[in-house]
Amino acid sequence: MSVKPEIELTSDGSHTLFVPTLNEHYHSTNGAVQESVHIFINTGFQTCRKEDIKILEVGFGTGLNTFLTLLESQKESKAIHYTGIELYPLPFSIISKLNYTDSQSSENKSLFYKLHECDWNEEIQITPQFHLKKIQADLTSFDLSSIENIDIIYFDAFAPDKQPDMWTQEIFDKLYSITTWGGILVTYCAKGVVRRMMQQAGYEVERLPGPPGKREMLRAKKPEQK
Ligand SMILES: C[S@@+](CC[C@H](N)C(=O)[O-])C[C@H]1O[C@@H](n2cnc3c(N)ncnc32)[C@H](O)[C@@H]1O
Repeated sequence: MSVKPEIELTSDGSHTLFVPTLNEHYHSTNGAVQESVHIFINTGFQTCRKEDIKILEVGFGTGLNTFLTLLESQKESKAIHYTGIELYPLPFSIISKLNYTDSQSSENKSLFYKLHECDWNEEIQITPQFHLKKIQADLTSFDLSSIENIDIIYFDAFAPDKQPDMWTQEIFDKLYSITTWGGILVTYCAKGVVRRMMQQAGYEVERLPGPPGKREMLRAKKPEQK
């Protein structure tokens, strides 16, 4: 992206970024943290009963979903292997201004910065139970078959009308092939065309209530192995 994203406040008081060249926000302007918690934590992460969970995020961005997952996983002492794909890593000058850690302990603040400061393209131990691999790559050309057995996919790309090349049948087919049996994919997007691509890939798809300001979201499940 040629123009630096701009920090904006959303309705729940948490920050998001606005990308002028796309005329698009990173999160819902109705509440960034509220949206992430609803879609990725409550409707995604919390529905997985495994003790050892592999997560793939499409669009690591501000690291908000990663940070919330890390905090949530600590409550239940789950082991997490988290992979985040991102084509445009944000500069620390932006990360350091985000208010996601404002009400957090100094320990959690350090963890948020560690998520950002750790090296790309290698698996890093953030805490004894949370491992992160940030991959700097373009999802549309990245060889997803190098990743496998994903339990939860957080599909958090920019909207289909802004970035249609991220929402293709080919991508959902590849994501399906690396999802474990019984694994899920969650996204804020509820468009019929997206739902149909997920179904075509093999997922069973549910329309579920969205976060405040958004009627619906999608959760796709790869059926249990027969
Ligand atoms: C809607 S934002 C969400 C970011 C992140 N999940 C967050 O909470 O901040 C979409 C993200 O996808 C990234 N992105 C855009 N094109 C991409 C591509 N071709 N491959 C991988 N990531 C991409 C953007 O840079 C941005 O960080």
